Parts: sequence; structure tokens; C-alpha cells
Amino acid sequence: MSLVKVSEIFIRPMTRDDVDKVVEIEKEAYGPHHWAKSSFYDEMSNNLAKYYIAKTPEGELVGYAGTWHIIDEGHITTIAVKKAYMRNHIGEAIIHKILEDCYSDGVKYLTLEVRVSNIPAIKLYEKYGFQSLGTRKGYYQDNNEDALIMWTENIFYDKFKQKYKENIENLNKLISIK
Ligand SMILES: CC(C)(COP(=O)(O)OP(=O)(O)OC[C@H]1O[C@@H](n2cnc3c(N)ncnc32)[C@H](O)[C@@H]1OP(=O)(O)O)[C@@H](O)C(=O)NCCC(=O)NCCS
Repeated sequence: MSLVKVSEIFIRPMTRDDVDKVVEIEKEAYGPHHWAKSSFYDEMSNNLAKYYIAKTPEGELVGYAGTWHIIDEGHITTIAVKKAYMRNHIGEAIIHKILEDCYSDGVKYLTLEVRVSNIPAIKLYEKYGFQSLGTRKGYYQDNNEDALIMWTENIFYDKFKQKYKENIENLNKLISIK
């Protein structure tokens, strides 16, 4: 259950000015192993990278995510929502933006790694058509945890598009995305 209820969210590309706030959420989400500001600054000048932030109507930065588009594959590098704002469909709204970008850029497949214990994230990805296609043993060096490697099918396939359309119709009833 979210601590703060949000009915409207603004998604726009991340800029260098957002990085301080983004790293605050990173620390909260990932603890001592969070990305440093320099990693986000590097991503801001990476031509393959697309990063987004989510803001409330009051202007509070409450979530972000990033992807790399490499030919016809998209790799989600990070996604997080501020704890007090979780379960408001903000994560979904950002995934929606990422998928729209993939459709525009002709990216056919999306992939990511996620800790095997990270049920909220795995559920979010499964909702958007990601399936686990394997594991990387001991991928996370802090606790030697395995990563699930998740992939979508071709997002241009009718089956994927149909499920995605249903998700977005439901999403638009729950939160207004600007
Ligand atoms: C994963 C994360 C981004 C989800 O963000 P969120 O805005 O809270 O998620 P949403 O409200 O958009 O949830 C969308 C769907 O994800 C799933 N989900 C999200 N949180 C969940 C939870 N705690 N338990 C079970 N399912 C969950 C559900 O399927 C949900 O759909 P539903 O509301 O219809 O059940 C958020 O939990 C987070 O920031 N976690 C810490 C960082 C992290 O682990 N990132 C992923 C690294 S791979």
C-alpha cells in the first residue's frame, strides 16, 4: 500500500539537473550498492541511453528508469520508485514510456536482469510480458545472489500488443500520465 496517493504523473527525459534527486531514490532503493552520480552523468551523454523521470504535479521527483537501445534490443538498466510513492502505478507508467520508445525506435525485444528475490519487480515485469529465460549465477556481488534474465517476446507481435493494449487501458483508468 502506498503512503502517498498519486492520481497524475508527469514523465519526461532525465537531465543532469535531476541526478541529485535520482541518486537519493537510488540510495533508498539499492542501499550501499547504488549507482553514483557519475554513472548517471555518464548515461546522460551516452547516445544509446534513454532515461526518464516521473514527477508529481507538485514537482516532486518520485521515480526514474533507463534503457539502452542496441540495434533491435532494449536493455532496462535501472528502475526505481520512491518508497512512499510505490504501488501508485508509477513503475508501470515508466515501463509504458519505455515501451512506447521501443516501438518508435523499432526495438523488438526488451531484456533486463533482476535479483531472484525481488518479487515486486519480477511481478511488474511479468505484467508487461517479460519472461524469465535463465539465470546468471552469483551476478550480484554484494550477497552473491543470482539474477533472473528476463526477456519480452517480439513486442511487435499481435499477442504482445494485445496484452500491452489491455494493460494500458487499465493503467489509464488508474493514473493520468502526462
Ligand atoms: C519495482 C518497482 C519499480 C515497482 O514500482 P511501483 O510504482 O511501486 O509499481 P506499480 O505500482 O507500477 O505496480 C505495477 C505492478 O507491479 C507489480 N508489483 C509492484 N509492486 C509489487 C509488490 N510489492 N508486490 C507484488 N507485486 C507488485 C504488480 O503486478 C503491480 O500491478 P497491480 O498493482 O495491478 O498488482 C518498485 O517496487 C521499486 O522501486 N523497487 C525498488 C527498486 C527495484 O527493485 N527496482 C528493480 C530493479 S531490477
